[in-house]
Amino acid sequence: MTFTPNPEYLVQVSHLKQYFPVNTGFLRTTLLKAVDDVSFDIRKGETLGLVGESGCGKTTVGRTMLHLYHPTGGEIWFDGKKIEGKETLREYRRRAQMVFQDPYSSLNPRMTVADIVAEPIDVHNLCPNKKAREDRVRELMSLVGLNTEHATRYAHEFSGGQRQRIGIARALASEPEFIVCDEPVSALDVSIQAQVINMLEDLQRQLELTYLFIAHDISVVKHISSRIAVMYLGHMMELAPANELTRHPLHPYTVSLMSAVPIPDPRESRKQQRIVLQGDVPSPLKVPSGCPFRTRCDRATAACAESCPAMREAAPGHFVACHNV
Ligand SMILES: Nc1ncnc2c1ncn2[C@@H]1O[C@H](COP(=O)(O)OP(=O)(O)O)[C@@H](O)[C@H]1O
Ligand SMILES: [Mg+2]
Repeated sequence: MTFTPNPEYLVQVSHLKQYFPVNTGFLRTTLLKAVDDVSFDIRKGETLGLVGESGCGKTTVGRTMLHLYHPTGGEIWFDGKKIEGKETLREYRRRAQMVFQDPYSSLNPRMTVADIVAEPIDVHNLCPNKKAREDRVRELMSLVGLNTEHATRYAHEFSGGQRQRIGIARALASEPEFIVCDEPVSALDVSIQAQVINMLEDLQRQLELTYLFIAHDISVVKHISSRIAVMYLGHMMELAPANELTRHPLHPYTVSLMSAVPIPDPRESRKQQRIVLQGDVPSPLKVPSGCPFRTRCDRATAACAESCPAMREAAPGHFVACHNV
Protein backbone atom coordinates (compact mmCIF):
# COMPACT_ATOMS: atom_id res chain seq x y z
CA MET A 1 0.00 0.00 0.00
CA THR A 2 1.52 3.32 -0.99
CA PHE A 3 0.77 6.51 0.82
CA THR A 4 -0.13 9.67 -1.09
CA PRO A 5 0.39 12.93 0.77
CA ASN A 6 -2.50 15.39 0.90
CA PRO A 7 -1.34 19.03 0.58
CA GLU A 8 -4.18 20.13 2.89
CA TYR A 9 -2.26 18.68 5.84
CA LEU A 10 1.01 19.80 7.40
CA VAL A 11 1.56 16.55 9.29
CA GLN A 12 0.40 13.08 8.32
CA VAL A 13 0.99 9.97 10.38
CA SER A 14 0.25 6.65 8.74
CA HIS A 15 0.13 3.28 10.54
CA LEU A 16 2.61 4.44 13.19
CA LYS A 17 3.94 1.73 15.51
CA GLN A 18 6.26 1.89 18.47
CA TYR A 19 7.15 -1.39 20.17
CA PHE A 20 9.54 -1.42 23.13
CA PRO A 21 11.36 -4.63 24.05
CA VAL A 22 11.06 -5.00 27.84
CA ASN A 23 12.61 -7.53 30.20
CA THR A 24 9.96 -9.85 31.57
CA GLY A 25 12.12 -12.34 33.39
CA PHE A 26 15.35 -14.24 33.09
CA LEU A 27 16.62 -13.81 29.51
CA ARG A 28 13.10 -13.12 28.38
CA THR A 29 11.91 -10.03 26.56
CA THR A 30 8.40 -9.16 25.49
CA LEU A 31 7.37 -6.43 23.07
CA LEU A 32 5.37 -3.69 24.70
CA LYS A 33 3.19 -2.26 21.96
CA ALA A 34 2.99 1.33 23.20
CA VAL A 35 1.62 2.58 19.88
CA ASP A 36 0.02 0.08 17.53
CA ASP A 37 -1.06 1.18 14.09
CA VAL A 38 -2.11 4.78 14.66
CA SER A 39 -2.97 7.13 11.78
CA PHE A 40 -4.04 10.76 11.75
CA ASP A 41 -3.45 14.07 9.95
CA ILE A 42 -3.09 17.63 11.20
CA ARG A 43 -4.05 20.63 9.06
CA LYS A 44 -1.84 23.68 8.89
CA GLY A 45 -2.69 26.05 11.75
CA GLU A 46 -4.91 23.49 13.46
CA THR A 47 -4.76 22.13 17.00
CA LEU A 48 -5.41 18.41 17.20
CA GLY A 49 -6.12 17.27 20.76
CA LEU A 50 -4.90 13.80 21.76
CA VAL A 51 -6.51 12.34 24.87
CA GLY A 52 -6.59 9.09 26.80
CA GLU A 53 -5.78 7.68 30.23
CA SER A 54 -2.23 7.73 31.50
CA GLY A 55 -0.13 4.98 29.88
CA CYS A 56 -2.21 4.71 26.69
CA GLY A 57 0.68 5.84 24.48
CA LYS A 58 0.17 9.60 23.98
CA THR A 59 3.72 10.66 24.81
CA THR A 60 5.09 7.82 22.69
CA VAL A 61 3.01 9.02 19.72
CA GLY A 62 4.44 12.54 20.18
CA ARG A 63 8.03 11.42 20.59
CA THR A 64 7.88 8.90 17.77
CA MET A 65 6.31 11.30 15.31
CA LEU A 66 9.15 13.74 16.04
CA HIS A 67 11.64 10.89 15.57
CA LEU A 68 12.92 11.22 19.13
CA TYR A 69 12.28 7.47 18.95
CA HIS A 70 12.85 5.61 15.73
CA PRO A 71 9.43 4.26 14.66
CA THR A 72 8.97 0.49 14.69
CA GLY A 73 6.68 0.90 11.72
CA GLY A 74 4.63 3.38 9.75
CA GLU A 75 5.32 6.66 8.04
CA ILE A 76 5.47 10.32 9.01
CA TRP A 77 4.94 12.94 6.34
CA PHE A 78 5.63 16.61 6.92
CA ASP A 79 4.80 19.37 4.46
CA GLY A 80 4.48 16.87 1.62
CA LYS A 81 7.75 15.04 2.35
CA LYS A 82 8.26 11.65 3.91
CA ILE A 83 10.55 11.87 6.94
CA GLU A 84 13.39 9.45 6.39
CA GLY A 85 17.13 9.70 6.07
CA LYS A 86 19.50 12.27 7.51
CA GLU A 87 18.62 15.16 5.18
CA THR A 88 14.85 15.29 5.78
CA LEU A 89 15.34 14.52 9.46
CA ARG A 90 17.66 17.45 10.09
CA GLU A 91 15.27 19.90 8.46
CA TYR A 92 12.29 18.30 10.23
CA ARG A 93 14.00 18.60 13.62
CA ARG A 94 14.21 22.35 13.12
CA ARG A 95 10.63 22.73 11.90
CA ALA A 96 8.98 20.43 14.47
CA GLN A 97 9.50 20.81 18.22
CA MET A 98 8.16 19.51 21.52
CA VAL A 99 7.10 21.09 24.80
CA PHE A 100 7.55 18.48 27.53
CA GLN A 101 5.18 17.55 30.30
CA ASP A 102 7.42 18.12 33.28
CA PRO A 103 9.22 21.49 33.33
CA TYR A 104 11.26 20.28 36.31
CA SER A 105 12.93 17.28 34.69
CA SER A 106 13.02 18.59 31.11
CA LEU A 107 15.27 21.59 31.86
CA ASN A 108 18.80 21.20 33.15
CA PRO A 109 18.74 23.05 36.50
CA ARG A 110 22.43 23.98 36.17
CA MET A 111 22.04 25.71 32.83
CA THR A 112 21.17 29.38 32.48
CA VAL A 113 17.92 30.37 30.83
CA ALA A 114 19.90 31.88 27.94
CA ASP A 115 21.76 28.63 27.26
CA ILE A 116 18.61 26.53 27.49
CA VAL A 117 16.66 28.78 25.13
CA ALA A 118 19.62 29.06 22.72
CA GLU A 119 20.15 25.30 22.48
CA PRO A 120 18.21 24.87 19.20
CA ILE A 121 19.83 28.05 17.85
CA ASP A 122 23.27 26.51 18.45
CA VAL A 123 22.31 23.06 17.17
CA HIS A 124 20.95 24.45 13.92
CA ASN A 125 23.45 27.33 13.57
CA LEU A 126 20.71 29.92 13.37
CA CYS A 127 22.58 32.99 14.60
CA PRO A 128 25.74 34.32 12.89
CA ASN A 129 27.34 35.73 16.06
CA LYS A 130 27.12 36.14 19.84
CA LYS A 131 25.28 39.45 19.66
CA ALA A 132 22.60 38.07 17.35
CA ARG A 133 22.20 35.05 19.64
CA GLU A 134 21.77 37.27 22.71
CA ASP A 135 19.21 39.44 20.93
CA ARG A 136 17.28 36.41 19.77
CA VAL A 137 17.23 34.91 23.29
CA ARG A 138 15.85 38.20 24.62
CA GLU A 139 13.24 38.30 21.90
CA LEU A 140 12.14 34.75 22.72
CA MET A 141 12.02 35.44 26.44
CA SER A 142 9.74 38.44 26.02
CA LEU A 143 7.59 36.47 23.57
CA VAL A 144 6.73 34.05 26.40
CA GLY A 145 6.41 36.74 29.06
CA LEU A 146 9.72 36.23 30.86
CA ASN A 147 11.80 39.10 32.22
CA THR A 148 14.77 39.44 29.84
CA GLU A 149 16.98 40.52 32.73
CA HIS A 150 16.71 36.96 34.06
CA ALA A 151 18.58 35.44 31.11
CA THR A 152 21.65 34.64 33.19
CA ARG A 153 19.71 32.97 36.00
CA TYR A 154 19.59 29.21 36.40
CA ALA A 155 16.52 27.13 35.63
CA HIS A 156 16.23 25.95 39.24
CA GLU A 157 15.57 29.53 40.37
CA PHE A 158 12.20 29.60 38.60
CA SER A 159 8.70 28.45 39.50
CA GLY A 160 6.96 25.68 37.56
CA GLY A 161 4.98 28.07 35.40
CA GLN A 162 8.06 30.12 34.55
CA ARG A 163 10.02 26.97 33.77
CA GLN A 164 7.34 25.90 31.35
CA ARG A 165 7.66 29.32 29.69
CA ILE A 166 11.40 28.66 29.35
CA GLY A 167 10.59 25.29 27.76
CA ILE A 168 8.19 26.99 25.34
CA ALA A 169 10.79 29.66 24.46
CA ARG A 170 13.28 26.86 23.73
CA ALA A 171 10.74 25.10 21.51
CA LEU A 172 10.16 28.35 19.59
CA ALA A 173 13.85 29.15 19.13
CA SER A 174 14.23 27.28 15.84
CA GLU A 175 11.14 28.98 14.37
CA PRO A 176 9.17 25.73 14.14
CA GLU A 177 5.86 25.38 12.31
CA PHE A 178 4.68 22.38 14.30
CA ILE A 179 4.82 21.80 18.07
CA VAL A 180 3.85 18.74 20.07
CA CYS A 181 2.59 20.06 23.41
CA ASP A 182 2.77 17.05 25.74
CA GLU A 183 0.50 17.80 28.71
CA PRO A 184 2.22 21.18 29.03
CA VAL A 185 0.14 22.27 32.03
CA SER A 186 -0.59 19.07 33.92
CA ALA A 187 2.42 19.52 36.24
CA LEU A 188 1.45 23.13 37.03
CA ASP A 189 -0.76 24.69 39.69
CA VAL A 190 -4.37 24.96 38.56
CA SER A 191 -4.17 28.72 39.07
CA ILE A 192 -1.55 29.14 36.35
CA GLN A 193 -2.69 26.46 33.91
CA ALA A 194 -5.05 28.84 32.11
CA GLN A 195 -2.30 31.47 31.71
CA VAL A 196 -0.01 29.02 29.98
CA ILE A 197 -2.79 27.64 27.76
CA ASN A 198 -3.86 31.15 26.77
CA MET A 199 -0.27 31.99 25.96
CA LEU A 200 0.08 28.92 23.75
CA GLU A 201 -3.08 29.97 21.92
CA ASP A 202 -1.78 33.54 21.44
CA LEU A 203 1.54 32.22 20.16
CA GLN A 204 -0.28 29.94 17.76
CA ARG A 205 -2.15 32.87 16.21
CA GLN A 206 0.87 35.15 16.18
CA LEU A 207 3.32 32.63 14.72
CA GLU A 208 0.86 30.52 12.66
CA LEU A 209 1.74 27.36 14.57
CA THR A 210 0.23 23.92 14.23
CA TYR A 211 -0.20 21.91 17.45
CA LEU A 212 -0.65 18.36 18.58
CA PHE A 213 -1.97 19.01 22.07
CA ILE A 214 -1.77 16.02 24.41
CA ALA A 215 -3.85 15.79 27.61
CA HIS A 216 -5.19 13.00 29.79
CA ASP A 217 -8.28 15.08 30.48
CA ILE A 218 -10.71 15.85 27.67
CA SER A 219 -11.85 19.08 29.35
CA VAL A 220 -8.34 20.58 28.95
CA VAL A 221 -8.29 20.21 25.14
CA LYS A 222 -12.00 20.65 24.46
CA HIS A 223 -11.83 24.41 23.97
CA ILE A 224 -8.50 24.75 22.22
CA SER A 225 -8.70 21.87 19.74
CA SER A 226 -10.45 21.93 16.40
CA ARG A 227 -10.48 18.14 16.40
CA ILE A 228 -9.84 15.55 19.12
CA ALA A 229 -8.38 12.05 18.86
CA VAL A 230 -8.95 9.46 21.60
CA MET A 231 -6.44 6.70 22.37
CA TYR A 232 -6.72 3.54 24.43
CA LEU A 233 -3.92 0.99 24.98
CA GLY A 234 -1.85 2.12 22.01
CA HIS A 235 -4.82 2.26 19.63
CA MET A 236 -6.83 5.11 18.18
CA MET A 237 -10.50 4.74 19.10
CA GLU A 238 -12.18 7.86 17.80
CA LEU A 239 -11.34 11.08 15.99
CA ALA A 240 -13.80 13.89 15.32
CA PRO A 241 -14.29 17.66 15.39
CA ALA A 242 -14.06 18.76 19.05
CA ASN A 243 -17.71 19.83 19.30
CA GLU A 244 -18.97 16.69 17.67
CA LEU A 245 -16.78 14.42 19.81
CA THR A 246 -17.80 16.02 23.08
CA ARG A 247 -21.53 16.27 22.23
CA HIS A 248 -21.98 13.04 20.32
CA PRO A 249 -19.25 10.63 21.31
CA LEU A 250 -19.72 7.32 19.50
CA HIS A 251 -17.11 4.99 20.94
CA PRO A 252 -18.12 3.43 24.29
CA TYR A 253 -14.72 4.45 25.67
CA THR A 254 -15.17 8.10 24.67
CA VAL A 255 -18.71 7.98 26.08
CA SER A 256 -17.29 6.91 29.44
CA LEU A 257 -14.57 9.60 29.29
CA MET A 258 -17.20 12.26 28.56
CA SER A 259 -19.45 11.06 31.37
CA ALA A 260 -16.63 11.86 33.81
CA VAL A 261 -16.41 15.51 32.68
CA PRO A 262 -18.34 17.75 35.10
CA ILE A 263 -21.15 19.81 33.55
CA PRO A 264 -21.42 23.35 34.96
CA ASP A 265 -25.22 23.62 34.56
CA PRO A 266 -26.79 21.82 37.58
CA ARG A 267 -29.99 20.93 35.69
CA GLU A 268 -28.02 19.34 32.86
CA SER A 269 -25.66 17.83 35.40
CA ARG A 270 -28.48 15.94 37.15
CA LYS A 271 -29.38 14.29 33.87
CA GLN A 272 -25.80 13.21 33.34
CA GLN A 273 -25.14 9.57 33.89
CA ARG A 274 -21.69 8.81 35.14
CA ILE A 275 -20.33 5.64 33.60
CA VAL A 276 -17.73 3.98 35.73
CA LEU A 277 -15.62 1.60 33.69
CA GLN A 278 -15.46 -1.95 34.96
CA GLY A 279 -12.02 -3.26 35.87
CA ASP A 280 -8.59 -1.76 35.35
CA VAL A 281 -6.75 -0.89 32.17
CA PRO A 282 -5.14 -4.19 31.08
CA SER A 283 -1.35 -4.37 31.08
CA PRO A 284 0.11 -3.05 27.82
CA LEU A 285 2.11 -6.29 27.74
CA LYS A 286 -1.12 -8.25 27.54
CA VAL A 287 -3.40 -6.29 25.26
CA PRO A 288 -6.70 -8.20 24.80
CA SER A 289 -7.26 -9.88 21.43
CA GLY A 290 -9.52 -8.07 18.97
CA CYS A 291 -10.69 -4.72 20.28
CA PRO A 292 -8.36 -3.63 23.11
CA PHE A 293 -11.30 -2.04 24.96
CA ARG A 294 -13.59 -5.08 24.91
CA THR A 295 -12.70 -6.30 28.43
CA ARG A 296 -14.15 -3.11 29.90
CA CYS A 297 -16.90 -2.48 27.39
CA ASP A 298 -20.56 -3.03 28.20
CA ARG A 299 -21.40 -3.46 24.52
CA ALA A 300 -18.79 -6.11 23.75
CA THR A 301 -19.88 -9.11 21.67
CA ALA A 302 -18.10 -12.23 20.43
CA ALA A 303 -16.98 -10.37 17.29
CA CYS A 304 -15.02 -7.89 19.43
CA ALA A 305 -12.69 -10.66 20.66
CA GLU A 306 -12.04 -11.84 17.14
CA SER A 307 -10.90 -8.82 15.19
CA CYS A 308 -9.63 -5.36 15.98
CA PRO A 309 -12.08 -2.87 14.50
CA ALA A 310 -10.56 -0.48 11.95
CA MET A 311 -11.27 3.24 11.99
CA ARG A 312 -14.20 4.07 9.72
CA GLU A 313 -16.01 7.30 8.94
CA ALA A 314 -19.36 7.08 10.74
CA ALA A 315 -20.37 10.66 9.90
CA PRO A 316 -18.50 13.25 7.81
CA GLY A 317 -15.15 13.78 9.53
CA HIS A 318 -16.15 11.56 12.46
CA PHE A 319 -14.05 8.40 12.64
CA VAL A 320 -14.59 5.56 15.07
CA ALA A 321 -13.08 2.11 15.61
CA CYS A 322 -15.91 -0.02 17.02
CA HIS A 323 -17.81 -3.05 15.73
CA ASN A 324 -21.01 -1.99 17.46
CA VAL A 325 -21.52 1.63 16.54
N1 LIG B 1 11.11 3.93 26.68
C1 LIG B 1 10.19 3.03 27.03
N2 LIG B 1 10.51 1.73 27.21
C2 LIG B 1 9.58 0.81 27.57
N3 LIG B 1 8.27 1.10 27.73
C3 LIG B 1 7.88 2.38 27.57
C4 LIG B 1 8.81 3.41 27.20
N4 LIG B 1 8.13 4.59 27.11
C5 LIG B 1 6.85 4.31 27.39
N5 LIG B 1 6.69 2.99 27.67
C6 LIG B 1 5.42 2.30 27.98
O1 LIG B 1 4.55 2.55 26.90
C7 LIG B 1 3.22 2.78 27.34
C8 LIG B 1 2.75 4.14 26.90
O2 LIG B 1 3.46 5.14 27.60
P1 LIG B 1 3.28 6.70 27.32
O3 LIG B 1 3.42 6.93 25.87
O4 LIG B 1 4.20 7.41 28.22
O5 LIG B 1 1.76 6.93 27.75
P2 LIG B 1 0.98 8.28 28.12
O6 LIG B 1 1.81 9.43 27.64
O7 LIG B 1 -0.34 8.16 27.42
O8 LIG B 1 0.82 8.27 29.61
C9 LIG B 1 3.26 2.61 28.86
O9 LIG B 1 2.88 1.30 29.16
C10 LIG B 1 4.72 2.85 29.20
O10 LIG B 1 5.07 2.15 30.36
MG1 LIG C 1 2.54 11.04 28.71
